Amino acid sequence: MKKLSARRRHPLAALVVLLFALAATGGLYTAFAPAGEAKADKGSSQSLAIEEGKKLYDVGCSSCHGTGGQGTSDGPSLVGVGAASVDFQVGTGRMPLQQQGAQAPKKKQVYDQDEINQLAAYVASLGSGPSQPTKKQYDPNGSDVAKGGELFRTNCAQCHNFTGEGGALTHGKFAPDLGDVSEKHIYEAMQTGPQNMPSFPDTVMPEKDKRDIVAYVKTVNSDKSESPGGFKLGGFGPVSEGMFAWIFGLGSMVAVAVWVAARTAKARKS
Ligand code: HEC
Ligand code: HEC
Repeated sequence: MKKLSARRRHPLAALVVLLFALAATGGLYTAFAPAGEAKADKGSSQSLAIEEGKKLYDVGCSSCHGTGGQGTSDGPSLVGVGAASVDFQVGTGRMPLQQQGAQAPKKKQVYDQDEINQLAAYVASLGSGPSQPTKKQYDPNGSDVAKGGELFRTNCAQCHNFTGEGGALTHGKFAPDLGDVSEKHIYEAMQTGPQNMPSFPDTVMPEKDKRDIVAYVKTVNSDKSESPGGFKLGGFGPVSEGMFAWIFGLGSMVAVAVWVAARTAKARKS
């Protein structure tokens, strides 16, 4: 005890305490300040995006979806649909809708990607929903194409056909051809289930499975224009293509035989 109080009175004691205190505050500052600052930065750019998004929304979307996104008789509520749905709908040109119909058609996109991100940020701020996927989530590089094909045939082919060529549904609706849809939009369609399509959230279909499907769709559609085997009959695969040859090939032979028989019968009569 005595020793300590003796040291405290040492002429350098005050300096040591001061240096120690300075080092401590400096250390604490570097440990916490930049993180806090970065957070504040991100927060304010996010709220700026929401603000800009709201302006775009008020002009282009509120007439149908309501001033606060609550929906009107001309458009559904957007509360809780999430950023992914906005990115998909606006990114594929479906929104803003121009005309009510059986199904919102794909059009040339009206907003650029920055504006889409702002609209998405605003809609996401109304209620949480699936966020826009990152490249890492949808990039099909190194995915299992065969597994993707299997998943596609069980989950998607009943509407989109075996290689994603699309097909008609009831009441003037149709499942589109997936040939030229971007990887991100394929992923988002599965996340959000636009219109008559069911959604495939991560609990039902894990991220990796979605990525395998993206890989499959991209692979089977990468060489669509060329068809090495000749006329490709919708790409249904060997069984149905064989069937086609069988029915039409054999059918035309039968037709010729019937025609010949009819001619000879006629010739005999006269
Ligand atoms: C003319 C009316 C109209 C306008 C304008 C319009 N929408 Fe829509 N929107 C609709 C209708 C109708 C649907 C439902 C489509 C369907 O299910 O057939 C819809 C659906 C959506 C969906 C899908 C919702 C879901 O459940 O996933 C999003 C997202 C969306 N709109 C965003 C927008 C945005 C953003 C804008 C502005 C850039 C916009 N819409 C402009 C009428 C409109
Ligand atoms: C019940 C039928 C049905 C099933 C099952 C289905 N879809 Fe769809 N899909 C649709 C319809 C209808 C649309 C058009 C929606 C629209 O235009 O808003 C669509 C749209 C899409 C689009 C957007 C295409 C474009 O042109 O922008 C993609 C991508 C897609 N589906 C992928 C899939 C995948 C992958 C699966 C399987 C995991 C799947 N769909 C399962 C009916 C279906």
